[in-house]
Amino acid sequence: MSTGAILWPQRSIERALAPVLPGFSVEVLPEIDSTNTELMRRARSGHMAPVLLVAEQQTAGRGRLGRPWRSAPGASLTFSLGLPLAPPDWSGLSLAVGVGVAESLHPEVRLKWPNDLWLGDAHGERKLGGILIETASIGALRYAVIGVGLNVTAPHAAGLAMPAGGLQELLPGVGAAQALVRLAVPLVQAVQAFEALGFAPFQARFNVRDVLREREVSVADAQGGTITGSAHGVTEAGALLVHTTAGMQQITSSEVSVRPLHARPGPAAGQP
Ligand code: BTN
Repeated sequence: MSTGAILWPQRSIERALAPVLPGFSVEVLPEIDSTNTELMRRARSGHMAPVLLVAEQQTAGRGRLGRPWRSAPGASLTFSLGLPLAPPDWSGLSLAVGVGVAESLHPEVRLKWPNDLWLGDAHGERKLGGILIETASIGALRYAVIGVGLNVTAPHAAGLAMPAGGLQELLPGVGAAQALVRLAVPLVQAVQAFEALGFAPFQARFNVRDVLREREVSVADAQGGTITGSAHGVTEAGALLVHTTAGMQQITSSEVSVRPLHARPGPAAGQP
């Protein structure tokens, strides 16, 4: 289904991915609660075909840690890729997805463990997008739903936990449909490479884009515990390495929130 407002490249993405994902389709909806929620609903009712579901607007978009994901129509790309997946080890999938998406977009798209796409430049640091991965088990099969939200233009800062940026800052004039064309095939390739080889081939590629590397960070868990230390990249399994007073710790839980203790400032007011 096409919505008319934006020309979505459904057929060309389907053609490009048909050889590697038999039965694959691209669907575009004008509005839905959440593309992740919809694909999880479908999987639980037995629909496990590979699909890329795009929504021009989500009314109940979800982020990590139970947070809402808000985006204005036309100002963002919101979609989920659903497919059966059977990696020997699931550790690091969201990082591998981040690497695939970042590399397809621009050399300056950076990654913040475990699932954020960031911009970091002379204007300071801004969140560009995020990844939310969920899975449904149906018998012996596991269906992965990989949700991606990407700001095309920077959302208004009011009410946001941290400043946000938009892809147009790096790629002037790019639209949501063009962003999808750039990233759809590399995303599927990254997921399939992860399924076959695990996170190890992505480790160095993550580390060159890692915004936390060599910085003081604070890691907060859901129980209110916090540790601080310096971040030293990720392991072959995608764990975040944080050097604390108790030694090197490997952070593996995706239920933590990590932030740099000192923001990298933008230019002082009045400077060009
Ligand atoms: C995060 O930064 O916490 C992850 C945000 C993920 C948002 C995307 S938008 C498409 C898909 N549907 C959702 O409800 N969430 C993901």
